[in-house]
Amino acid sequence: MAEIYSISMNKGGVGKTSLVTNLASILAKKYKKKVLIIDTDAQGNSSIAFGKNPYDFEYTIYDVMLGECTPKDAIRTMKRNIDLLPANDDMNFLEFDVLPHLDKYTRPYYLLKDGMKDIDQEYDYIFIDTPPSLGFVAGNCLTYANHVIIPFVPEMYDVKGLIRVVKAIAEFRNDYNPSLNVAGVIGMKVESNTALHSEMLQEARKYCNQSGIYMYETVVPKSIAFAKAVAYSNVPAILSSESKNKLVKSYDEVAKEFLINKPVKGKV
Ligand SMILES: Nc1ncnc2c1ncn2[C@@H]1O[C@H](COP(=O)(O)OP(=O)(O)O)[C@@H](O)[C@H]1O
Ligand SMILES: [Mg+2]
Repeated sequence: MAEIYSISMNKGGVGKTSLVTNLASILAKKYKKKVLIIDTDAQGNSSIAFGKNPYDFEYTIYDVMLGECTPKDAIRTMKRNIDLLPANDDMNFLEFDVLPHLDKYTRPYYLLKDGMKDIDQEYDYIFIDTPPSLGFVAGNCLTYANHVIIPFVPEMYDVKGLIRVVKAIAEFRNDYNPSLNVAGVIGMKVESNTALHSEMLQEARKYCNQSGIYMYETVVPKSIAFAKAVAYSNVPAILSSESKNKLVKSYDEVAKEFLINKPVKGKV
């Protein structure tokens, strides 16, 4: 049965999609794990990371959540051992299409979980790429997931923002999914040579330590080569770059930590 991870953070541009697509790619390629990526963000960037246009799919996660198709109708294989359940702009309308009809959709925060029933038998890991806000869709991701990983970019906001998100997730969990585990915070797009980044990371580590949250030792460095790979190569960076590249190395380390880290359910 798959372990289901939601990569969640209420900001755009923090590396959610990059983490999902690269970690999934390493687990599939190097460790031969069978992985499903579920995109729930209207921007459809997980498809784009694999060179696919999010508007070319007949069915998307929107249809699965509304019960208009099965997950298998919508899932497509991207690479060996990597399947994708895509999303597109339809997701921007989900809340509007559901909330006025609560007589029909009686469990609005469980649409993803209910729609994905039984599919977790087929995978080792399911990664959910989420939208940049903690709203209706993000809530659906947190009720379906067993674990949540939070990307933290030191330059974009301070540790208070991280604490706020962890608290919001913990509160949501208590109401909707008590066994959800905060499986880790991970530094993304880090410039280790700047004092600001180092200080903020240290502060984040201190908070995580005190709160019993795992913070990845590895940080993913900021890399211009990465942005180029995303723009030109139609595959996640770790599949297109040389293994000596510092970014590829860091994702390798992230994958190792990910596999070692046996999370304790229900902490925080
Ligand atoms: N390690 C990195 N170094 C430099 N740029 C990065 C890195 N990781 C992601 N990016 C870039 O930052 C932007 C946002 O990343 P993305 O993964 O799409 O974030 P999100 O899904 O949280 O919005 C993208 O343009 C991506 O190419
Ligand atoms: Mg994204």
